[in-house]
Amino acid sequence: MQVNLAEHLPKNERIQLGSYYTPERLVHRVYDFIQPYVHNKKKKVVLFDSAGGCGAFLFGIKQCDYRIADRDLNACKFLKQHFEQQNVFHTNSLIEVNRAKYFISSSAFLIMIGNPPYNDTTSEFKNGAKGQNICDEDLYDRDIGVSFLKSYHKLNADVVCVLHPLSYLIKESNFKRLRDFKDNYKLIKGEIFSSTLFHGTGTGKFPILVSLYEKNADGMTFEDIRNFRFNILDNDKTFVLSNFKTTDGYINKYPPRKNDVQKSPIGLYYYTFRDLNSLKKNASFRTKEHPNGIVVTLENFYKYSYLYSLKSLFNPEDAWLYGNLSPLVHIEDVEQNKELYVSYAIKTNKVFKEMGNSILRKIAEFYKVKFDKTADIDKMEKTIKHRLVKLV
Ligand SMILES: C[S@@+](CC[C@H](N)C(=O)[O-])C[C@H]1O[C@@H](n2cnc3c(N)ncnc32)[C@H](O)[C@@H]1O
Repeated sequence: MQVNLAEHLPKNERIQLGSYYTPERLVHRVYDFIQPYVHNKKKKVVLFDSAGGCGAFLFGIKQCDYRIADRDLNACKFLKQHFEQQNVFHTNSLIEVNRAKYFISSSAFLIMIGNPPYNDTTSEFKNGAKGQNICDEDLYDRDIGVSFLKSYHKLNADVVCVLHPLSYLIKESNFKRLRDFKDNYKLIKGEIFSSTLFHGTGTGKFPILVSLYEKNADGMTFEDIRNFRFNILDNDKTFVLSNFKTTDGYINKYPPRKNDVQKSPIGLYYYTFRDLNSLKKNASFRTKEHPNGIVVTLENFYKYSYLYSLKSLFNPEDAWLYGNLSPLVHIEDVEQNKELYVSYAIKTNKVFKEMGNSILRKIAEFYKVKFDKTADIDKMEKTIKHRLVKLV
């Protein structure tokens, strides 16, 4: 068995258990982060990885007092060969969560470390790949990783230094789901890296965080997160959420509700999107009504033309970093360059080749763009790309 690779598990079990073991350099980032707390002079320190896998996080710090738990029996057999047997627990760490279960005294200074599993039981659950989250009632969340964060609060951890998706913090709806954890812990440090550093994760890249939290009765608010300066692994850039302007509040991203107008007056719809990743992945304009179709009108057509341009031409190297955000936008740019985005959309999107000329003429007249068959699309693309690079 390998410490950094869950090779002993078939793919479906690896997904169910979230068994993607952590590469050494990320483990070392965690060691760097917890360094100031490990030599606590006043209290006995205990390090605990409650989703320990094959022990990637504990091999380097066996000299400290530690605990390690995992649900995977084979991983635990391996752990028992390499660690003190009484410190290894074969258990579901989200059930009957309390310090006594692991013989950790209430006075100990508890530091949680590791890379707990993250998988959203609703996302791939449909095709049966992901299992259920069986846990204490108060820890339940549809994403097992959120349950793990909550379990650290239940253990009354003093410090938490774990890897988790950045989206837990920067999407407000996710942030709220952290409940007691966000109300009792404060983010001290955060360093972002790409999920591609993990062996065997899918092709969709997403940002993961090496996070350091301290127990704090004031907790943290979403405003704290918006203004937090995150570092980026191997990069001098930093990431501050409030620096990004997104289309939220400017461009509607949802299909009509029951009582809203369902039919587009110009027979055009735009496929719904949740964030930049899904905007890039999903279809764009379409001419048929569809449950996932946002209604496009003559008046808002330029905004969806902008989104189509963004989908087609915005490809920064570090796109994975912004993928979980709503699409980025500089509103003034879009407002001042409606014709550019509209022209680009109607000249390059295949839907408009099949559309009746009367609608196209209406759009062209409304936005005062010419039907110029000889238009230089390369030049247009260059101009748009030049504008889009300024988004980040
Ligand atoms: C992402 S892996 C990380 C393993 C190890 N900490 C590392 O970084 O190499 C997550 C681990 O959590 C374990 N796991 C998943 N659900 C669990 C649960 N409810 N209780 C305990 N362990 C669990 C899996 O078996 C897997 O070994």
